[in-house]
Amino acid sequence: MTRERTVFICKNCGHESLKWLGRCPGCQEWNSYVEKTQGPASTRPQAVAQELSQVATEQLSRLVLPYSEFNRVLGGGIVPGSLVLIGGDPGIGKSTLLLQVAGAVAESGRGVLYVSGEESVNQIRLRAGRLEILGEGLYLLPETSVENILGSAEEIAPQLMIIDSIQTMYREGLPSTAGSVGQVRECTLRLMQWAKSSGVPVLLVGHVTKDGTIAGPHVLEHIVDVVLYLEGERFSSYRLLRGVKNRFGSINEVGVFEMGEQGLVEVTNPSEAFLSQRAEGAIGSVIVPTLEGTRPLLVEIQALTSPSSFGLPRRTANGVDFNRLLLLCAVLTRRAGVSLSNQDVIVNVVGGIKISEPAADLGVALAISSSFRGVKVDPNMVALGEVGLSGELRPVSQLERRLAEGANLGFKTCLLPTPSRAGLSSPPQIELIAADSLAQALKLALA
Ligand code: TYD
Ligand code: MG
Repeated sequence: MTRERTVFICKNCGHESLKWLGRCPGCQEWNSYVEKTQGPASTRPQAVAQELSQVATEQLSRLVLPYSEFNRVLGGGIVPGSLVLIGGDPGIGKSTLLLQVAGAVAESGRGVLYVSGEESVNQIRLRAGRLEILGEGLYLLPETSVENILGSAEEIAPQLMIIDSIQTMYREGLPSTAGSVGQVRECTLRLMQWAKSSGVPVLLVGHVTKDGTIAGPHVLEHIVDVVLYLEGERFSSYRLLRGVKNRFGSINEVGVFEMGEQGLVEVTNPSEAFLSQRAEGAIGSVIVPTLEGTRPLLVEIQALTSPSSFGLPRRTANGVDFNRLLLLCAVLTRRAGVSLSNQDVIVNVVGGIKISEPAADLGVALAISSSFRGVKVDPNMVALGEVGLSGELRPVSQLERRLAEGANLGFKTCLLPTPSRAGLSSPPQIELIAADSLAQALKLALA
């Protein structure tokens, strides 16, 4: 006979334990265990094993959205029966984006059920008016009980369901309140079951906590098929939709949008947009062709150095990794004769973009040196290269793509590591300046 049992779950990583623990062995977080009662395991029909070669390949016809930026991040559209989580800071535009998606899908003749636990039908109606969404075939449901939602879904039989947000949803019969780990987990599992059995894709909105993870935590990320983040700076109008997990595609893609008067508009040529406000020939500014997934993106890196007024010099990194900045400052000081030990250093990537690849090292180092020496970098030049601890320059991947994007936007030269030039298979459309070391690169660029 099965009976109710109590387990403890880490609200950070979802680790399960039969007794309470002070520190989670899974994620090393203190005080993260919460109690949860599990009902008797329901008896489910047993699944039958099949030989792989005998499994009929269902045609996975994806639901292609009229937003090519969104489709690319998804890997070519929404897979039927999949659960897609969209996270992001409050006010970044998640509800706006999903309402636009709902409107567009409904307009193409497929029914959409938009469930909101946060806004009333009137509020959504107002927003839809602003976004010029007509709303035929788009059903609004202000509801937070998962059971009721699935009841309505059975009635309406939509081809896409949107839940805004998962933290407001609850399942009856659970002791905890909406938004708690237990509720978020159970609601997501139930929605997952429904999506898989009905074949209807479900888009979930998830709120992000202060430390940048989706509240009601990693558990959620393990359950769903796709996790996307909508990012951007509060006061910049650009929004990046970035893949973090994708069972059906690459996670390196980003979609670029701009928030305007009428909601989010796709930015199809982001390099041009990001460079449009550039003050050409400014000191401390360098352009780097980074690669986001398959798409090269030209971004401007700005740096400012100023003498520290007292104590330890400070370093501030916006859009680049802080530890990477520390490393570059140390290498510049020790290997390239740019003495930063009594300088505050601030680095900023324009447009609210975050760069994680080391290929931007040379650009960051060059921007810092340009500011420190008060010498500007040729505005028609882009820079690429990873910097090693002994001050050597290392090759970067997919050089052809990056150079082509630079040439497309009218750049004339590219400063790059010598080994990269040797690896080029086709003659580049822009002039190459090769350097072996950071010191040599600075000499060439800041003559
Ligand atoms: P919202 O989608 O409500 O954010 P989230 O659901 O992620 O919390 O976004 C609200 C913000 O977007 C709000 O600050 C106003 C702005 N906005 C526009 O600039 N233009 C628009 O057309 C809309 C609908 C919103
Ligand atoms: Mg919202």
